[in-house]
Amino acid sequence: MNEKTGISMERKRLNYENKLILAPMVRIGTLPMRLLALDYGADIVYTEELIDWKLLRSFRRENGTVDYIDKTDGTVTFRTCLRERDKVVLQIGTCDATRALKVAKMVEQDVAGIDLNMGCPKLFSLVGKMGAALLKEPEIAVNILKTLVDNLSIPVTCKIRVLPDLDKTLELCELLQSTGISAIAVHGRTVNERPQHMNHNEVLRKVSEQLSIPVIANGGSKEIQKYSDISKFKEITGCNSVMLARAAEWNCSIFSKEGLLPMEDVIKSYLKYAVDCDNPPSNTKYCIQNILRDQQESTLGRNDLWDLSDYCRLKKKEFGEKGLLGRSQVSPMREDEKQNEGQ
Ligand code: FNR
Repeated sequence: MNEKTGISMERKRLNYENKLILAPMVRIGTLPMRLLALDYGADIVYTEELIDWKLLRSFRRENGTVDYIDKTDGTVTFRTCLRERDKVVLQIGTCDATRALKVAKMVEQDVAGIDLNMGCPKLFSLVGKMGAALLKEPEIAVNILKTLVDNLSIPVTCKIRVLPDLDKTLELCELLQSTGISAIAVHGRTVNERPQHMNHNEVLRKVSEQLSIPVIANGGSKEIQKYSDISKFKEITGCNSVMLARAAEWNCSIFSKEGLLPMEDVIKSYLKYAVDCDNPPSNTKYCIQNILRDQQESTLGRNDLWDLSDYCRLKKKEFGEKGLLGRSQVSPMREDEKQNEGQ
């Protein structure tokens, strides 16, 4: 029990030491990809960044999966399930401690941790004073993180980018650590650097030497083509936890100790989860296109349903029997769901 807040510490269990982690990725890191990453060996999976006000206008519904549904258009803002509950970290895009806490409280029972996005360089984030804008206003980030740490029963982390100056980076990391967060993910590129720039692995090493909490090394996908490259990245950065984005997007079996699987096998397994989770077709298509990349026009890319028609028919029958058909479509909020409204 936290004496100050009276909050049970029972769920503060997720440990970030020596972990392989699926990075937050907008549109890619939805439920099917997260489940696939867990199957292949990821220890922790981050959701895509979810913007606070969008979650706050959603309501919770259990429907085979646990869904947070946007009241304004009936789309699923966040879908999760029991299988990932102790491994999934929800990343929030926010610039406001009160809204961040409301969101975190809303999903606390369904996720294992909360992460604050402090690295997104997109205009949408910067204009909203979110993401990388927080690197310039650390006092706002500190307030958000402290508020979350003091009031949640699950661990809190943040994900940053390095600053152009090493000492300033170390200073910022020390400050963020002082809020009581459980770990920090550091992408070794500055806000102005793009994926083709070298990752500043030497800065990650300095940060990990300086901090006492786990530092999760990120930004190594170009150096990581196979499982054994992950150990090399750990050695170079001095971090024992690694977070992968693009390497996992392109071939999620990068998490597997057994080695990379052929892309076709990964696509098939992904599609099965997409069917199981009733993932919106537009999102499924986007993810497959990002796995295929320049092979979209190849025979593999033009493959119709990857021999999954029997599987789809079977699942449709099963969903029909369980009353779970059309989970991604709108149906009005029930009375009992009103109490779970964000605001
Ligand atoms: C990202 N990244 C990202 N970061 C974040 O904090 N929240 C997010 O929602 C996203 N979304 C996102 C989408 C896609 C398609 C990509 C490729 C990346 C950044 C990502 O988590 C990571 O920091 C960088 O990609 C660097 O790591 P890798 O790719 O070298 O492993």
